[in-house]
Amino acid sequence: SIPYVVGSKSPMAVAINCAAKAGEWIKSRLGMVKDLNTKFSPQDLVTDVDKGAEAMIRKLIHTHFPDHEILGEEGVAPGAEASAAAVTEAKSAEYLWIIDPIDGTTNFVQGFPFFCVSIALAYKGDVIIGVIYDPTRDEMFVAEKGKGAYMHGNPTRVSQESALADSVIAVGFNPDRKVAAPINLKGITALSEQTRSLRAGGSAALHLAYVAAGRLSGYYEVNLSAWDSAAGALMVAESGGIVTDTTGHPYDIGVRNLIASNGKIQDQLLAAIKAAGATGC
Ligand code: IPD
Ligand code: CA
Ligand code: CA
Ligand code: CA
Repeated sequence: SIPYVVGSKSPMAVAINCAAKAGEWIKSRLGMVKDLNTKFSPQDLVTDVDKGAEAMIRKLIHTHFPDHEILGEEGVAPGAEASAAAVTEAKSAEYLWIIDPIDGTTNFVQGFPFFCVSIALAYKGDVIIGVIYDPTRDEMFVAEKGKGAYMHGNPTRVSQESALADSVIAVGFNPDRKVAAPINLKGITALSEQTRSLRAGGSAALHLAYVAAGRLSGYYEVNLSAWDSAAGALMVAESGGIVTDTTGHPYDIGVRNLIASNGKIQDQLLAAIKAAGATGC
């Protein structure tokens, strides 16, 4: 069973509360961005709403669990999450919350309604809770290690396709245009020839939630960060799917190049990405 901290609220209740509150606020700020900046590349956006949502979530978590550590996208210098030291530190933390306050910032800025709040809790590096909230559709996806994954009380299950040719796969256009994006494009080209169709919705976490819910057969992207994938990877696994790195190693929070699927097409996806020379940076 999951090693919980004794407290008045369960971590799951806190995670759901944080995602719901931040999500509602983010939705209320649509079209009202005050401060739009770029981070490590002109394609890497951040707004006052990303920062405000992260601050709101941090405060709520620390109210209930003052000793827990928090890794949030807007609290880390761009690029720093990639360092081996950062990953080792994250894995050795006892309780570590991993937050993406808005996954899909470009969509949020555009008013394209496909973005979410992603919150995970890891215990000694192992993700035990994942919550992804899409405020536009009011869809709250939750997963708890060993206890399954749900959306509004209904268990989520991965899809059933067993052939890549019958599968719809999500991909991403990584904001690192110099190194990661060209690799992703090689993978995207290969997958476009071998699948039924591709989707690039612009939110890694929602792509993973959709794989968990059987709305997509799989998802491939290189150069992700822990906050993009931690909650969603647990959700896919708890819904009967598989998440690995692009060379087939099991998912952990240090994985940056990711393939997730219903499990049945995982080997075909891995083979396609390997053959395309698109396993990562
Ligand atoms: C991004 C989104 C996007 C993916 C990028 C991520 P952000 O996260 O998930 O879909 O392609 O790799 O960085 O910056 O919107 O939180
Ligand atoms: Ca970002
Ligand atoms: Ca993200
Ligand atoms: Ca983000």
